Amino acid sequence: MKKQLFALLFALLPFMAVAAPGPDVPYSMTPDLRDQESLQRGMQLYVNYCMGCHSLEHQRFSRAANDLGMPQDLVEENLIFSSSLGYNDLMHIAMLPEDGESWFGAAPPDLTLHGRLRGPDWIYSYLLSFYRDPSRPLGVNNAVFDLVAMPNVLEPLQGVQEMVCSETDQPVAGQSPDPLSGKYQSCEVLQVTQPGSMEPAEFEEAVYDLTNFLAYVGEPSKLQAQALAPKVLIFIFIFGVIAYLLKREYWRDVH
Ligand code: HEC
Repeated sequence: MKKQLFALLFALLPFMAVAAPGPDVPYSMTPDLRDQESLQRGMQLYVNYCMGCHSLEHQRFSRAANDLGMPQDLVEENLIFSSSLGYNDLMHIAMLPEDGESWFGAAPPDLTLHGRLRGPDWIYSYLLSFYRDPSRPLGVNNAVFDLVAMPNVLEPLQGVQEMVCSETDQPVAGQSPDPLSGKYQSCEVLQVTQPGSMEPAEFEEAVYDLTNFLAYVGEPSKLQAQALAPKVLIFIFIFGVIAYLLKREYWRDVH
């Protein structure tokens, strides 16, 4: 009996594992890999706004087209802009990392696995958190990635976002109080001060689609794996019954 209890304890061990806490970011999103329309819009935004600088070295146009339910001719017409890239090619870019580094101060990384490295919440928050900062070389900063070297490429859609500061009595880390008022400056709120071509809710949806697409690219076979899982469990169950009957047959002569 002791042995069985011990085995049960081990079997239950994975359920006791505590999930690692997510990154400390202001917004969160849950990817939905079944929402093909969202993924298609995300891919469209990606090739239009991001692929000038960020490659997807491990993703083929054709794989994305199949998974997201897009016909080849539409992909060739609307999503492949470079004449050196074909339908079956990996999503390379022409920019060399050395050039990126000398132009921006940091090379734009490949984003195929970035959704898994940083997590969707981080990417979603990062893309929503650019703000104007005249003290930076490109005039922008980011509330999630301080001193970022990436230009705010989505500004035409979102509009101009600025950091709004207010006075507070609460001490702020790394700041001494104003000698006259004794108050601190709290700069935490981001506000769109000049509208872009999208309404704020519409922009959030676009950034959701883009992040959803990057989550898909990080693990393109996740949907297939999830579809396979119940079949594997059914197989293990049926095999377990057969193995048990066989064991009984073998041990019948011994007992
Ligand atoms: C003009 C070039 C350029 C474009 C276009 C661009 N980026 Fe970037 N991006 C950069 C650079 C440069 C960095 C590196 C920033 C740093 O390390 O400070 C970066 C960094 C990033 C990072 C963070 C990398 C990290 O260190 O975790 C993400 C995520 C990202 N970009 C996503 C995007 C997305 C999504 C788009 C399209 C909406 C986009 N980028 C468009 C230049 C660009």
